[in-house]
Parts: sequence; C-alpha cells; structure tokens
Amino acid sequence: MAQSHATPSQDELKTLVGRAALQYVLPGEIVGVGTGSTVNKFIDALAAMKGQIKGAVSSSLASTERLLALGIPVFDTNEVAELSVYIDGADEIDGQGNMIKGGGAALTREKIVAAQSRQFVCIVDQSKLVQTLGKFPLPVEIIPMAARRLMRQFAAMGGQAQLRLRDGQPLLTDNGQNILDVRGLQISDPLAFESLVSQWPGVVTVGVFAFQRAQVCLLGTANGVRTLTF
Ligand code: A5P
Repeated sequence: MAQSHATPSQDELKTLVGRAALQYVLPGEIVGVGTGSTVNKFIDALAAMKGQIKGAVSSSLASTERLLALGIPVFDTNEVAELSVYIDGADEIDGQGNMIKGGGAALTREKIVAAQSRQFVCIVDQSKLVQTLGKFPLPVEIIPMAARRLMRQFAAMGGQAQLRLRDGQPLLTDNGQNILDVRGLQISDPLAFESLVSQWPGVVTVGVFAFQRAQVCLLGTANGVRTLTF
C-alpha cells in the first residue's frame, strides 16, 4: 500500500489481506484456493512462493486459469484427500465465521474444497463484516427445472428470488446450472437455514457457509489487517 495517510481503497485492502494469507500456506503442501477479486490478489502473491508448495486445488475455472498462468500446478480435488488450509473471500461474514458466498457463482466448488480442508481462512475487506447475514442477496445454485418452484419457496419465507442473468440469458455456472439471488432474508440461524434449504429438491448448493464456516478471518481495515478467530 502507498505510504500515505489517505484512506486505503477497497482494492488496496484486498491486496493487503491477499498477501497476509500467505502466512497460512505451509511449504511442501497443496493449498485450497477460492474464487473472486480478493482471492486473485492472494493468487498473485502466491506466485512468489510457488517453488515452496506442491500446488493448489482450485474452486473455479477462473482461479484454475489464473493459477496455471502463474506457473502454479493445479490438482483435481479427487487426487487430494485433505488440505490443511483453504483460502477464500466472502460476500458477508458474521462474528461467528458464518458466511454468504457465491457472488462470483462459484459457491458449489467452493463448498466442496472447503469441506475437504482442515482450516478455512477467509480474506475480506471490512465492508463484508456484518452482524446478521442477509443484506447481500443470497446466491443459490439450482437445477434450472426447479427455478419457479424454488422462487415460490423463498417467497414463502419472505425472500424475493431472481434468476441471475448474463448477457440477457440465465447465467450458467461452471457446473452448467443456474443461480438464484434471494433478497430480503435475515439469516439469524445460519446452520438451521443451510440445513433446511439444502434439502429442497433442485437446490445444488445454498450460499450460506455455516457447516463450512471460517475458522480465521483476515479483515482488511484502514489500520491494517485484523485477525479474527472463531
Ligand atoms: C465467489 O463465488 C464468491 O464466493 C466469492 O468468494 C465472493 O463473492 C467474494 O468475492 P470478492 O473477493 O470478489 O468480493
């Protein structure tokens, strides 16, 4: 970050936490890598220690492409039984490490890689820390034929669900499915919410990460990186 007293930009805070996450990467190991603009900063920083690690397991085609372009080997999730650490961003995180994720549509693969990791280190700027999850529209990856019924189910719990579009067409995830973004929810019990919605037929993955919550959050603030542990 520039040596000035100006308030750091969101981009500078992302760079700061992306670099700070390197301390959780163990030499000789394979690191779990998430998706998004904050993780991109982490991947760029990781390039400096690529000779010290075996490689990465990635949660999206976009992150895989970036890792490979920097010369970091990428392993298939099925080749690796367990990862010591998974580094990823979030759209919201609460004071217990529960998160909303999926703003970049990569939530399903992110949850899979998080589930095979012993520790989730979340890297975010301070704007993402909330008391209660739900202000950020909740991403839900769904099977297209269930879209209308799932929209009605969210409406019944007070949410307004919209199909995410790209270039005027329903967005297709890396898994060939669609995303609903649900506004108007107050997720006061993230574990119960995740359990419930995950069971609705047609839901591939709900973007509440309570079962796969973070154990550590590196929070980018105007005064530097704050480490929260849960
Ligand atoms: C990707 O699907 C998301 O879960 C991201 O981790 C989340 O949207 C954070 O992205 P940014 O770091 O770009 O804000």
